[in-house]
Amino acid sequence: MKNRSLVSINDFSIGEYFKILDLAEKFEEKPNQRILEGKVVALCFFEPSTRTRLSFESAINRLGGRVIGFSDAGSTSVKKGESLKDTIMTVANYSDLIVMRHPVEGSARYASEVSPVPIINAGDGANQHPTQCLLDLYSIRKTQGKLDKLDVAFVGDLKYGRTVHSLVIALAQFNCRFHLVSPEELKLPSSVKRYIKDANLEYRQYTDVTDVIPFADIVYMTRIQRERFADQLEYERVKNYYNLKNEMLANSKANLRILHPMPRVKEISNDVDNNPKAYYFQQALNGVYVRQALVTSILGLE
Ligand code: CP
Repeated sequence: MKNRSLVSINDFSIGEYFKILDLAEKFEEKPNQRILEGKVVALCFFEPSTRTRLSFESAINRLGGRVIGFSDAGSTSVKKGESLKDTIMTVANYSDLIVMRHPVEGSARYASEVSPVPIINAGDGANQHPTQCLLDLYSIRKTQGKLDKLDVAFVGDLKYGRTVHSLVIALAQFNCRFHLVSPEELKLPSSVKRYIKDANLEYRQYTDVTDVIPFADIVYMTRIQRERFADQLEYERVKNYYNLKNEMLANSKANLRILHPMPRVKEISNDVDNNPKAYYFQQALNGVYVRQALVTSILGLE
C-alpha cells in the first residue's frame, strides 16, 4: 500500500482490507504512539464534514504527525478561480499525503493522477467513500466476528449514498445477502448492483424497513441526501420516508447491529440510541483506528 492512493474501494484487494483491519485493531489497543513524527498530512475538504475530517485529524495527532488544510474552500484561492490541479500541486508541496473530499464525482481520481503525493478520497460526490467503507467493514467484523454470509440491509438513500456504494462493492466479495430498502426514486444504481450480480449473489429490493428487521444481521441506515437532489420538490417528497424507532427492533436478532455513517437527520429516532444494538457512535470512533492504520500503511510506517 506504500505510496498508493485510495480513491475507490476497488483499489485495494481483500488481503489489503484485512491488513488494514488487523492493524486498526492494534491501534485500538494503543492509539497514542509517535509513528508519524515529522510527517505532514493535508486535509482538503471542499464539502462539509464532522466525522471524516476530525477522525483523520485525531488519528494523525495521536500518532505525532502534523495536519494542515482547510474545511471551507471559500477561504482558499479556489475562490479566486484556482483549478483543482493547481490546488493539489501546491498542497502536495507542503505535505506527504492529501486527504480530499470534493462534491464532484471523479475529482479524487483526477487528483490522484496529477498529484506527486498519494491521495485518499474522503468522499467524491455521490460516488464513493472508501475510508468510511473500511471503518464499516471493521465495525461489522468487530460486532459479527466475520464479514461473510451476513444478511445486510441498506436503508434510505441508496441512489446518492456514497458510503452505501463503497460498502456494497466491498461486501460483494464476502458472499453476503443484500436487502436494499429505499423509496422507488432512490434505488441502488445499476452500476453498483452489477458488483452483486457479477459475484452471483442475491439481492432483494423493499420499500418498508420493517420487512427486513426480523432477519438482518446489519441494518445500515442512511440519510436522504438533500444536497444531491436536482429537484428540491422530489427531496421534500421522500425526506421523511424512514424513521427507525426502538419499538420496531423488538423482534430483531440478538446479534443485529444498527450502523449509520452519520450524520443522521430523522431516519433514526433518539430512542434507539440506548438500545445495545445501536452501534453508530462506536462506528464513528472506529474511524480513528482505521484511519491510523490507513495513513501509516500508505506512508510506509506501519
Ligand atoms: N460519515 C461521514 O462521512 O460523516 P461526515 O460527513 O461527518 O464526515
